[in-house]
Amino acid sequence: MSRCQASILFPSRKEIIHPLHLRLMSSIINRRDWLKSGLLASAGLTFGQSAPSYASQTSQLGIINVYAEREMELAKEAMLAAAPQIKARLSSNENPWGPSASAIKAITETAPKAFLYAGAITMELRKTIADMHGVAPDQVLLGAGSSELLMASLMMAATKGKVMMAETCYISGRDARDESAKMPTEKVALTKDYQYDLDAMATRVGSDTAMIYVCNPNNPTGVMLPSAKLKSFCDAVSPKSTVLVDEAYIDYAPNPATDSMVDCIKKGQNVLILRTLSKLHGFAGLRIGYALGQPEILKELRKYCSGGFTVSATSAAAAVASFKDKAFQEMVIKNTAESKKFLYETLKSMDYTYLPSDANFVLFPIKIKGQMLVQKMMAEGVSVRSWAFDQQNWCRVSIGTMDEMKAFKEAFTKSVS
Ligand SMILES: Cc1ncc(COP(=O)(O)O)c(C=O)c1O
Repeated sequence: MSRCQASILFPSRKEIIHPLHLRLMSSIINRRDWLKSGLLASAGLTFGQSAPSYASQTSQLGIINVYAEREMELAKEAMLAAAPQIKARLSSNENPWGPSASAIKAITETAPKAFLYAGAITMELRKTIADMHGVAPDQVLLGAGSSELLMASLMMAATKGKVMMAETCYISGRDARDESAKMPTEKVALTKDYQYDLDAMATRVGSDTAMIYVCNPNNPTGVMLPSAKLKSFCDAVSPKSTVLVDEAYIDYAPNPATDSMVDCIKKGQNVLILRTLSKLHGFAGLRIGYALGQPEILKELRKYCSGGFTVSATSAAAAVASFKDKAFQEMVIKNTAESKKFLYETLKSMDYTYLPSDANFVLFPIKIKGQMLVQKMMAEGVSVRSWAFDQQNWCRVSIGTMDEMKAFKEAFTKSVS
């Protein structure tokens, strides 16, 4: 175990600021003038002072802490879920059919032994994932959800240069509010049909592009890139910069095995893939995600995360069981497709267009302000999310059970009439 890992696991009161962050902070300060030393002082991060929390240190890195405001969102979501009038929670792309009975059984069976650290079962989970993708176990890194690994990847990139991303993608709207704390990013507009503009991105990759974030299928659009096109992009660009492919929704794609960029990893390319069980497996509250990549990239990534230590024994055992449960996965895909079809038909019948989605949510342009719709829908007991881009307001609705989609139809009809 490295000194760095040891200090994460066994924090000493003497360690005023974690050495990992000191090193990260100082390398960024040395290399870049976007994070002026005055920012550290203003944030109470002057060396030698008492320890700020991990979260407040990382939030100084701006967008790197893509979850800086997630805590607030979670509190709001908890209130929302508990609200007496809630009929359908269609705002966080969760899977209402999960977790599977087999996953719940594994949790129950593992719980009595949960006083033990999760070593053995997390090793089994890692091996299960490696076998499933045809890679070696040292090409798999576990995390408590893919968020942990996404943050770690961005922190790793920040020590080297800019992160390129689409103007509208999962992390594009999560910039730090504080201009001076923003990490350098390069945002590239989507094409007219709301695809990633891979050609434009490829031409803009420079020596200071440390990472290119490609969310495929993309959130919030639900649009997926043709896999051959993304593979050629990885062929061309990965020798210059790490391509980070966020495959949170790839399980809903027509051919998940071949639509995934895992082949690029098998070819030895500088590609990092993030996957989550929060969607198809219904594990959003159980927190399991993983990264696939070259062993040396994952070794570096471990410096910025727990290296799998945050994964609980109960969730790991549930994940192993859920991967084996093909019938459950097929049921989720079938039910999602049925509910999505109902949603498409609803929107068409109401004269609304939508972006055909390869994920468990659909984005469609709306005719009133996003926040107004969100509030009206909430008053009817249905939560949805709104976006504004491409000079339009948009609503993103997660796919729920048929009853939830009917509740959406009723609430939406009232909200827009
Ligand atoms: C594109 C994308 N990536 C990553 C995540 C994070 O997922 P989790 O941390 O639950 O694994 C989400 C969650 O909704 C997402 O939409």
